[in-house]
Parts: sequence; structure tokens; C-alpha cells
Amino acid sequence: MLHLFLDTADIDEIRDAYSLIRLDGVTTNPSILAGAKNKYGSPVLELKVIYKFLEEHGGQLHIQPVASLYDEILKDAYYILEEVGENVWIKIPVTEDGLAAISRLSAEGIKVTAASVFTFTQGMLAYKAGADTVSVYCNRAEEKGIEYAHVIESLKNAFPDRVLLAASFRTTDQIERASFAGADSLTIKPKLLFQDLKTDLMRDTVANFQFSWESAFKSRNLRRE
Ligand code: E4P
Repeated sequence: MLHLFLDTADIDEIRDAYSLIRLDGVTTNPSILAGAKNKYGSPVLELKVIYKFLEEHGGQLHIQPVASLYDEILKDAYYILEEVGENVWIKIPVTEDGLAAISRLSAEGIKVTAASVFTFTQGMLAYKAGADTVSVYCNRAEEKGIEYAHVIESLKNAFPDRVLLAASFRTTDQIERASFAGADSLTIKPKLLFQDLKTDLMRDTVANFQFSWESAFKSRNLRRE
């Protein structure tokens, strides 16, 4: 079954979504953290609150180091594991330094998500370096003319037993295409995730049902006064 993550660092959005549907966790990145409301005084404290919530309600937390050089990525990763929680997935973009960090942390038994993957080769290298999960960034790929659905399909074909997390969505059509291509998991920003509940088509459809009923029975409820 498809796993669903929220791409946010806002604890209120996480609580709201968990009250409606069953989710499998939360992903963040430095831009999301920089733009978050920061209700608890610092991004690390915010992440601790999210980690605790997910411990209680079930779900993984994927956090990305801010650093981009090998030694610094490792420092950030160990800091995250110490300060936020030992079960955090460390999310690392697949650059040269990133790949070395993925290799090192995976060898130490740390759960790693290889992020910012745009090509089959990048994903293959990350799986071969030991990453638990490879994350293909769909919208960012599409903006550069890359067929992200093809990348997802090829990676799933070559690594059927490994986890493929599709990310970076701007439209619900991209979400559908990533799922159809074979992604195991999707991470979606809350606003986009719930967007289709309030389209004009939905408003018109519901209004149409109500109008039929009201015209026939002069009432807005099934139970008539
Ligand atoms: C996923 O884990 C990322 O945080 C996210 O989807 C990145 O994509 P974006 O920056 O294009 O939204």
C-alpha cells in the first residue's frame, strides 16, 4: 500500500492532518524549516515537538542537514540524532559529498533518505551506497524537462525491494503520475494534499445534489421538519 507523508515543519498542520487521515510521517528540508512559524523558539525545538508527536501517533520523521560538505553533513546528522531523536531518518541530497555521507551513515546503521534525486543514475548510486529510501523530486525535475515518472519507473524496476519516495509536488496531477509510475511513498505539502476537496467541481456537485432535494422537498436535510 502507498505510504503518505506530510512535507512540512508546522506542528499544527501535522496535528490537523493526523486528525483526518492516517499518515506515515513527516519530511522537512532547510527551506521548509526556515519558512515555518517557529512556535517553540528554534527549529530544533520545533522538530523535537514533531518527533514526540510522531512517536505517539506513529510515523517517521525525515530531516535534512543544512550543510553541504561531507564532514559538515556528518556533524549536522549526528546533531540531529542527538538533539531531536535517534530514530530520525537523515535526508541527504545526492551530491558527491552527499553520496559519501550516505555511504558512511548507512554503514553505521543510520537510516538515510537520499534526496534531490533527478536521474536514474543518481538514485542507483544512492541505493548502492546503502540508502534505505531514494526520493525523486518531481516538480523540480519537470521544470527542467526531466521525465520524473520514467525515472521512478526505472528505479522501481531495478530496485523493486527498496523504498522510493516521490517528493516536490506542485499539482495533484504530478502526485497521480508519481503514484502510477510506482512510487512507494509520497510526501506532499498539506495545502496541496487537501486541495481537491474544495474545487469548483466539488462545490457545484454538492450544490447540485442539494438543489435537487430542496426543489422536491423544500428542505435542506434528509429529516424533514
Ligand atoms: C521532500 O522531502 C522535500 O522536502 C520537498 O518535497 C522538496 O521539494 P520542493 O522544495 O520542490 O517543494
